[in-house]
Amino acid sequence: MKVLHYKIQNLVKLVSLPLQNSYMTETDFVLDQYSQIDSGSHTWSSPSNIALVKYWGKKDNQIPANSSISFTLDNCKTVTTLRYSKKDHADDFSFEVFLDGDKKDSFKPKIETFFKRIEAYVPFLRDYHFVIETANTFPHSSGIASSASGMSALALCLMSIEKELIGANVILSEAEESYFIKKASFLARLGSGSACRSIEGDLVVWGEHQDIQGSSDLFGVKYPFEVHKNFKNYQDTILLVDKGEKQVSSTVGHGLMHNHPFAEERFKQAHDNLSTLINVFKAGDLDTFISIVESEALTLHAMMMASMPYFILMKPNTLEIINKIWVFRQETGSKVCFTLDAGANVHVLYPEAECEQVCEFIKNELVAHCQNGQYICDQIGFGARLMKNE
Ligand code: DP6
Repeated sequence: MKVLHYKIQNLVKLVSLPLQNSYMTETDFVLDQYSQIDSGSHTWSSPSNIALVKYWGKKDNQIPANSSISFTLDNCKTVTTLRYSKKDHADDFSFEVFLDGDKKDSFKPKIETFFKRIEAYVPFLRDYHFVIETANTFPHSSGIASSASGMSALALCLMSIEKELIGANVILSEAEESYFIKKASFLARLGSGSACRSIEGDLVVWGEHQDIQGSSDLFGVKYPFEVHKNFKNYQDTILLVDKGEKQVSSTVGHGLMHNHPFAEERFKQAHDNLSTLINVFKAGDLDTFISIVESEALTLHAMMMASMPYFILMKPNTLEIINKIWVFRQETGSKVCFTLDAGANVHVLYPEAECEQVCEFIKNELVAHCQNGQYICDQIGFGARLMKNE
C-alpha cells in the first residue's frame, strides 16, 4: 500500500484532535517530500458562496480581522481544468490562462500573486508549466465575484497534483481526506479570503471564534452544530442590478478597514452576530436570522460609506429592491430577506417552503429593477466536486 508523505505530526494531530484545528499552524501545510510526474490534468468544479456574517478587513497573510459564516451556493460555480507538464528548469512560474476557451492575460497578475503566496506550501509550482482552463456557470462580468469559486477550484486542482506527487491512494483515509480539504481551503484563502469558504457546504465558518470549536483563521470549516430544518435548502435568488466593473476591488475595500474609525466595533459586532446565529440555527429562528443577515449587509456598506476615501456601492435599484422586500414582508408575513456583497447586486434569501410565493413576488415586483431583467436562481449547495483526473 502506498504511504502518504504528509508530515507525520499532521496526521497525529488530525486523528487525535479532530476538532482542534486552531492548534494547526502554517507549517502543518508545507509539503516536504514529493516525487516527479511528467504531466497530467485535473478538473474541479467549485461553487461561489454568500456570506451571512461578512469578512471585511484583514491582517497580513490573508488572516481575517473577524470570523465570518456563509452559505455555499449550488449553481454559481467555476469549472477549472489544470494541465501540467514538467519543465526543464525550475525557474520562473510558467502558466497560461483561458476563460471560456479564450486566452485571458488579464487574469495572470492575480494568479502570479497567488502562486507567490502559496509557493512555500506547494513547492512543485516552479517545476511545471501550467495551462489553466476555466469557465463560470454565471455570466461573465455579471458583478458576481468569481474569485471565491475560481480560486477554490484552482486550489483543489493543485491539491490533486500534490496528491499524485506524494503517491497517495486514490481513495484517501478519513484523516487524509480531512487534511486534503483543509489544505485546499488554506491555499484558496491565500488566493482570495472568501474562497476558503467554498470547498465544502452547506454552511462554512472561517476565522477563529471562541464558541465554535475547530474554527480557524487559516481555513474554513463546516459549521459544526445543529441546524434546524428551516435552513435546509435555503434559496438565494441573485438580482443583477449592476453588471459593471467593481468600483472598489475587495483588496482595496479590506484595506479601508485599516485606521477606520469604526473598525474595532465592527469586528466585535461580527463576532457577536456569529455567536447569536448559533442559537438561531438551532432553533430555526427566522426572524432573528433576518435581522442579523440584513444588518450585516447594511453594515458592510456603511463601513464603505464611512471610510476614507468613501464609496457608495448600492445603486438606486438596490434600494428599491430592499424597500420592496420590507413592504412584502410586512404585508405577507414572509421570511424573505436580502444580503449584499461589496456591490449593487442583491441576494434574496428565503426558506425553501416559501419558494412559490417569493418567486412570484420576485418576478412581479423585483425583476423590473434588474439590469436587462437578469437574475440567477440558486440555493444552498454542498461544496466542490472533482470532475476528472487524467
Ligand atoms: C464582501 O474574499 O473577495 O464578499 O481576500 O481580498 O480576495 P480578498 O477578498 P474577498 O472579500 C469578500 C468580501 C465580501 C464578504 C464575504 O464574502 O465575507
